[in-house]
Amino acid sequence: MKNEGQNIYSVFDEIISREEKEAFLNQKAKVIWMTGLSGSGKTTLAKYLERKLLDNGFFTKLLDGDNVRSGLNKGLGFSEEDRNENIRRIAEVSKLFMDGGVICINCFVSPTEEIRNMARNIVGDSDFVEVFINTPFEECEKRDVKGLYAKARKGEIKDFTGISAPFESPKNPTIEVLTAGKSIEEAGDDFYQKLLPFITKEKQ
Ligand code: ADX
Repeated sequence: MKNEGQNIYSVFDEIISREEKEAFLNQKAKVIWMTGLSGSGKTTLAKYLERKLLDNGFFTKLLDGDNVRSGLNKGLGFSEEDRNENIRRIAEVSKLFMDGGVICINCFVSPTEEIRNMARNIVGDSDFVEVFINTPFEECEKRDVKGLYAKARKGEIKDFTGISAPFESPKNPTIEVLTAGKSIEEAGDDFYQKLLPFITKEKQ
């Protein structure tokens, strides 16, 4: 439809502002965008981080493949086009959470500079905290938590990130978390400390 959206009545003036909600929650809302290979530990670290944040008074929402690809993005696969649509929707949803004052923690492979830039543009540069979960490819393949690398090697999964589809490490991530040789607690605590300045509200 050509004029789609024209009849949407804007209620922005009536909606309670992000600022008021951030003040209520005593935090700065952000989108924490975790990128990394499959099996790099994104979701594991995000869960650890979310618990630690909640215990310290921060209000969050965690989005990952399990809760997004099984519902909102059910039916999307791993072609370039589908990944783009996957990430586009996630970025839009994260922005809505952020507008509600919530710290949104996202764990998605989001494999290319281009796809992450799309997410960054949707969210807004100053609210987008890019986090590279840096686990060497060999380590991810060795761990192979879900058995997907073995299947991809046998050709049973196509377009598999790192094997038959690209992964571009972020050149200049806001935060980098190295996981090799570290426990979840060590890597998670490091992540938490690096994140604090971005989400802590200045005292009025
Ligand atoms: S993204 O590329 O679109 O950002 P997303 O993070 O949603 O990917 O999903 C990646 C997860 O889906 C992986 O951790 C893995 O468990 C699973 N998966 C299934 N097929 C593939 C594939 N071809 N490439 C990468 N991950 C896949």
